[in-house]
Amino acid sequence: MWAELLPIGRSSASGGYRRYAWTGADSECREWFKEQAEARGLVYEVDRNGNQWAWLGDTAAGDAVVTGSHLDSVPDGGAFDGPLGVVSSFAALDELRRRDAHFTKPLAIVNFGDEEGARFGLACVGSRLASGQLGIEQAHLLTDGDGVTLPRAMEAAGYDPDAIGPDPERLARIGAFVELHVEQGRALDLSGDRVGVASAIWPHGRWRFDFRGEANHAGTTRLVDRRDPMLSYAETVLAARREAELAGAVATFGKISVEPNGVNAIPSLVRGWLDSRAEDQATLDAVVGGIEKAAREYADAHDIALDVVRESFTPVVEFDHALRDELTRILGKDTDLKVPVLGTGAGHDAGILSGHIPTAMLFVRNPTGVSHSPAEFAAEDDCLAGGLALADVLEGLACT
Ligand code: GLV
Ligand code: MN
Ligand code: MN
Repeated sequence: MWAELLPIGRSSASGGYRRYAWTGADSECREWFKEQAEARGLVYEVDRNGNQWAWLGDTAAGDAVVTGSHLDSVPDGGAFDGPLGVVSSFAALDELRRRDAHFTKPLAIVNFGDEEGARFGLACVGSRLASGQLGIEQAHLLTDGDGVTLPRAMEAAGYDPDAIGPDPERLARIGAFVELHVEQGRALDLSGDRVGVASAIWPHGRWRFDFRGEANHAGTTRLVDRRDPMLSYAETVLAARREAELAGAVATFGKISVEPNGVNAIPSLVRGWLDSRAEDQATLDAVVGGIEKAAREYADAHDIALDVVRESFTPVVEFDHALRDELTRILGKDTDLKVPVLGTGAGHDAGILSGHIPTAMLFVRNPTGVSHSPAEFAAEDDCLAGGLALADVLEGLACT
């Protein structure tokens, strides 16, 4: 499976993946998913929001056990974030068939569309739409950097954008969702474990800061006469770092757009996107509030107009305790070792779905902790241990 998937959407310049929703690379990944489903005799479906499903057993029976993840990537993402969960799901099914497991519940493997939000700015679009957390009107307004809207992009990729919307009947058929993911930190490396179970996801969100000043000549405009939004932006980046450090949170300006974007022109607009996350809501509110307050002071000092817009937000996720305990019981049953349970600052479709269905996650060790980078890595032994752990979990949940 990896041999087929690895070349798709890989930049030869960076070695990273550029698999953005509803692009050619995404279509190739989706074609791969369909082939994997069909090769195993599974019932293949695409839901109204473009999420792909591969079913074993009666799709309508209810109480289904679902596993899977996503195949899209951030700009220059690693190979594992998303695909490890999908590949492991198919591998776990193969393992269960090898074990001759007797399924008493339907099983499905899912590829959620546009998890990373790299193209339209909002993460987990497929699961947000299905669960009703993203409204149809809002979804129709999502626009990429070239001005293409989400509906037009879906249409160009061969999907019906008029169909998108909440899918409560589909979610009602799911009894449990388990997503396996490469860890995006070093907790398992430090504890010396191959596989862990998720406890919670930090609350997180994205805010757009628009600093508007006045374009002018870089050579002839006296410094005192300038209204340069880059200065307020730069000061705000430093304030974000300070606020996050003080609170034990994280804050990142990782994307910026500048107008007119000329070397010899003072910018008229600097637009920066803040991603911030903290262990609890009060801390996150304080961090983002502090950054915004500092930004307003800097903007005022330079006669810059500032708009701050919250583009997305995901509250804290505490995964279903009963399902989490069931996973640790299944994984710990033949060993004296305690299965590690860990939280994460990374967002996932599992987090979006957790408000609607019992949801759990498995993490596979990442020896460097690096993720959202071409350098992301997981060792083959650890991936195999993850796949077997997922097989054990699915067997425990869906088989007698
Ligand atoms: C998704 O990977 C996120 O945490 O932003
Ligand atoms: Mn990611
Ligand atoms: Mn991911």
